Amino acid sequence: MSFLEIKNITKRFDKQTALSNVSANIEKGELVCILGPSGCGKTTLLRIIAGLENANSGKIIIDGKDCTSLPASERNFGIVFQSYALFPNMTVLQNILFGLQQKKSLSKADMLDKATEVLRLVDLTEHTNKYPRQLSGGQQQRTALARAIALSPSYLLLDEPLSALDAKVRARLRGEIRAIQRSLGITTIMVTHDQEEALTMSDRIIVMNNAVVEQVGTPRSIYDNPATPFVANFIGSMNFYKSGGEICAIRPEKLIPVERHEAYDIAAAVKALEFKGALTRIYAVLPEMDEIYVDIISDRADALGLHEGALLFLKAPAEYQIKYSAKAAV
Ligand SMILES: Nc1ncnc2c1ncn2[C@@H]1O[C@H](COP(=O)(O)OP(=O)(O)O)[C@@H](O)[C@H]1O
Ligand SMILES: [Mg+2]
Repeated sequence: MSFLEIKNITKRFDKQTALSNVSANIEKGELVCILGPSGCGKTTLLRIIAGLENANSGKIIIDGKDCTSLPASERNFGIVFQSYALFPNMTVLQNILFGLQQKKSLSKADMLDKATEVLRLVDLTEHTNKYPRQLSGGQQQRTALARAIALSPSYLLLDEPLSALDAKVRARLRGEIRAIQRSLGITTIMVTHDQEEALTMSDRIIVMNNAVVEQVGTPRSIYDNPATPFVANFIGSMNFYKSGGEICAIRPEKLIPVERHEAYDIAAAVKALEFKGALTRIYAVLPEMDEIYVDIISDRADALGLHEGALLFLKAPAEYQIKYSAKAAV
């Protein structure tokens, strides 16, 4: 039995369908990302898991118990939003203590112990007495995380917790959140529209588009075997080209440039080269005018002497080709 079962959830707002028959299971101790473009229903699904929103149909089973109609106040979760939602007139410590006061059974001394412990866990011990405005965005979000875990919830819900932060802080916090989640072993569901964030942080990913689940799987399995052209395109980069009645797909790093006299699968004309540091991306055009791109080690690109207008010969290894029926829209 899974820790959390999302069963056939449908949610409509007026005529807008935000979730259409969404199902997924989440195991105890996992970090699962709900990934998809803006407006696909991620936040709505998270709010239904929290009990902050009611579904039109379907069930939410938590730890074997049907929680579908259970109000949020009776579900034992911690939550962090994109906006830090800290009280500006309270210090870091007071913000944490405020949350802990909900638990009436704790003595003052216990509360202080618990707050000290979670502040150490998120590495904010030296900022305990600062006000939110005296903290960086990353520190504010770590305070929000500390507040969410202080009550030892049985699961953690994170809605785009890193989106408001700049790239460097975001990358560091990914690792920090993951490390804290692992050390606590707390089941965590995180919403993100950032595929790299989902790939780097998750045990498994639920990929959504237009109110439906497109695929559920580990980052690796989704990257290697995207179930639909949407998933193939949304996660990483993907080339699509027509061959017979099918749509073929292959990742840009799986195409292998070869010398003219060697066996090749695809010939294309180089349109542009983009130096990206370790890798160079080659943009090229196939005879049928489909565009493809190829990522290769920059030194190899130099050795091939590629330039705009040059012919590029490529091997497309069969084991890396993915086929979709022509009906599946890209
Ligand atoms: N309270 C609401 N009232 C009306 N429409 C809503 C409400 N919340 C969400 N929606 C609509 O439901 C769809 C999914 O929204 P949301 O779950 O917030 O998407 P995401 O988090 O993936 O960006 C959107 O089209 C959004 O406009
Ligand atoms: Mg959202």
